[in-house]
Amino acid sequence: MTENIHTTVHNNLPRGRHPMPPCVLVIFGGAGDLSHRKLLPALYNLSVDGELPEHAAVVAFSMEDLNDDSYRHFARSGIQQFSRRPLQEEHWNKFAPLLHYVRGNFTDPATYQTLHARLEEIDQKSATQGNRIFYFAIPPGFIDDCSNSLKNAGMVKPADAPQFTRVVVEKPIGHDLDSAAEINARLARYFEESQIFRIDHYLGKETVENLLVLRFANAVFEPLWSAHFIDHVQITVAEQEGVGTRADYYDHAGALRDMVQSHLLQVLCMIAMEAPRSTGADAVRDAKLDVLRSLKPLDADEISRFVVRGQYAEGLIEGEKVKAYRQEEHIAPDSITETFVALRCFVENWRWSGVPFYLRTGKRMPKRASEISIYFKSVPRILFNNPPRPPLEANVLVLRIQPDEGLSLNIISKLPGADLRLAPVKVDFHYATASPEAYETLLRDVMLGDQTLFMRRDTIEAAWEFVQNILDAWAEAPSEPPLYSAGSLGPIEAALMIATDGRAWRTP
Ligand code: BG6
Repeated sequence: MTENIHTTVHNNLPRGRHPMPPCVLVIFGGAGDLSHRKLLPALYNLSVDGELPEHAAVVAFSMEDLNDDSYRHFARSGIQQFSRRPLQEEHWNKFAPLLHYVRGNFTDPATYQTLHARLEEIDQKSATQGNRIFYFAIPPGFIDDCSNSLKNAGMVKPADAPQFTRVVVEKPIGHDLDSAAEINARLARYFEESQIFRIDHYLGKETVENLLVLRFANAVFEPLWSAHFIDHVQITVAEQEGVGTRADYYDHAGALRDMVQSHLLQVLCMIAMEAPRSTGADAVRDAKLDVLRSLKPLDADEISRFVVRGQYAEGLIEGEKVKAYRQEEHIAPDSITETFVALRCFVENWRWSGVPFYLRTGKRMPKRASEISIYFKSVPRILFNNPPRPPLEANVLVLRIQPDEGLSLNIISKLPGADLRLAPVKVDFHYATASPEAYETLLRDVMLGDQTLFMRRDTIEAAWEFVQNILDAWAEAPSEPPLYSAGSLGPIEAALMIATDGRAWRTP
């Protein structure tokens, strides 16, 4: 089953097509990997869709020895390799002139004067009217210096000024609760909260955003969405990739910080939150914050029994032999960093009391698959499954985030024939249209000034607060994580953990 053509499009949300205000997007680290792979292809696609402001410019601010021409060459190669749509000359010719390059050292105040002058020049030529977005695609250690220098160079206007100044900050925001709080406090010295856009790119994924619509624009789900009808929820984010080229960062982070603290907890919020009072940014973020604050803190005993780490050993992925984590380039041969985490947690509020949420994420899994499975309670064992007949399988609603976006519902049905024989069947829905990339959605929202899909300071800190207990427990008693073969769904300990509750992981 695939998506039907819409006959009516309800565009009553604050997000959507609006006139885009003119602006200059300044990308700190504009000649880096994130720009090459994600930001420039996203901007190109926005340009193709006519979703960039009529008066716009992109200024890459970076240390590499480039100029406007060579930077455009760099952008073109990024778009050719990573854009979801192939580069077309006609569109490229419109997009390329928007790109500019300023070479500079992030810690040298003189460079900021050059940047300032260049931005004013662009304002004159491109009618960008002094509106600025500063995108920090740089290591977190530079953010404070860069913000300070921007402020000293007079480039940060107050939130209520006629010209806007916005700042975009990438994860990781900190490596624990204290450091996250410190980064937030520092940012607050230079920018007001309404000017800060903290990215969790999962929130820009079409299917993650759609969770809210699914839940609150359909009458069929919400009445069942609680401990009365739901037995448990599983959230799985499986990656086929290994650590790749990010060994330095990843080996100090691990899966709990890298994925659970951010993406998985955000997805959990979308599943568990109450209906927000409106679709406004703060209403949605307040509702999500309530979920994080309702997470029952895990004590030492629960951490030892219901939080499982793992690290990939060598194995086969799609028939190809892949290295163990410890054999990867720049990873210490005795690293105990986890590349897999599975845990059980509870949202302690009226709606969810007693319903376990099982979260699982890992690198080097058999395939890339992110999904949420809602397991409903079993029907009473009375009509079709009364003992000694076996129990019927419970209904499971699976919401697939990627790569095969859609949803399916397992229901029990009668097999055709004279006998009354029952079997599970699957109602399966696939989205037929290609979604924009998360960064397209997020960049467009920053330009519009819509913070709904961005992480507020208190949300980030609440998410850290939940994982901090686990980090502390692991730090107190460091130990080797159990190994799992690359190409498997994690260590046996993860299967045993959920089995102690009489349940099993769904195979994505
Ligand atoms: C990033 C993590 O935030 O998300 C990476 O730092 C991870 O380690 C990536 O690979 C996964 O994103 P996606 O969009 O490919 O699921």
